[in-house]
Amino acid sequence: MDSTLKVLAILKNSKNKFVSGENIAKELKVSRVAVYKIIKKLIQEGYKIEKHKKLGYKLIGSPFSPEDLLKKTKFLKEVVFLKKTTSTMELAKDILAKNPYSEQVLIIAEEQTSGKGRIERKWFSPKGGLYFSLIVKPNVLPYEVFMLNYVFSLSVAETIKDLYNVRVFTKWPNDVVDAYHRKICGILLEIDSEIDKVNYCIVGVGINVNINSKFFSKHKLKAISLSQIVGKNLDMTEFTVELFKRIEKNYKLFEEKKFDILTSRWVSHSSTIGRTIKVQTFTQTIKGTAVGISSKTGALIIKTPYGLKEVLSGDCIHLR
Ligand code: BTN
Repeated sequence: MDSTLKVLAILKNSKNKFVSGENIAKELKVSRVAVYKIIKKLIQEGYKIEKHKKLGYKLIGSPFSPEDLLKKTKFLKEVVFLKKTTSTMELAKDILAKNPYSEQVLIIAEEQTSGKGRIERKWFSPKGGLYFSLIVKPNVLPYEVFMLNYVFSLSVAETIKDLYNVRVFTKWPNDVVDAYHRKICGILLEIDSEIDKVNYCIVGVGINVNINSKFFSKHKLKAISLSQIVGKNLDMTEFTVELFKRIEKNYKLFEEKKFDILTSRWVSHSSTIGRTIKVQTFTQTIKGTAVGISSKTGALIIKTPYGLKEVLSGDCIHLR
């Protein structure tokens, strides 16, 4: 093993504790200056290492590793990783234009300069977030593609619970929020289909993983980063790998059309069901109590003074 990898292994094994330069130097049988140079190189490669005059070094963050993601998840056929791009949605479309057979290809970026949200909104995408678009070609009917909102938001909520033992909530139609309704994740679906066949679907997911809370207050966003909820900077590769393991399982249920399992699990994490809500669609405003999700169409079922109404998409505000 080369010296850089050895230093990295020592820092990783010391699990969030400082290791002195002297101890690393002793273990590697090199000088402290040599250790200092290796640490400098690791920082240039994207590792976040805290330095303390007396205590030494502590690893607090690793750069994203697309290789690890590809190795550890069977679901993905290709991973395209970029430090910076306009929008991964745009890139996914470029990839499809060049090769229409692209499938289960993931485009992931550290930063986006023109991130897109739902309903022509902007998606702020500074460094520290996880931004990706996944090209899928599910063998389902076009209207059933809506279920992908549940596949992805459920996967995000389940991964967060598994990894950090933190409860977050799925909010209809496609958000993950904390207990104070601050947004952690948003999902954008773009679909190309015939009347009875899906040509492709691009699933865009933005997750606030390690973004400083000052960013949200500066831009007056009702959002929060996972790192703030968990109380430490999170390992982006670990989070992404675990997330894709979940996505793989839940996507399988989706392709097998086990929508009842997906929607009932989504409901068990939901902050929408049981609440008084107002849904704004392109054509109407519906007020009532959210009572469930149709496992056939994925529509939100709302109890109103005029009876039960089903809505497939819209902006949802929790009133009580
Ligand atoms: C929303 O809640 O409005 C959906 C936000 C979706 C943002 C993601 S980030 C990765 C992908 N690229 C984009 O430009 N948008 C989606």
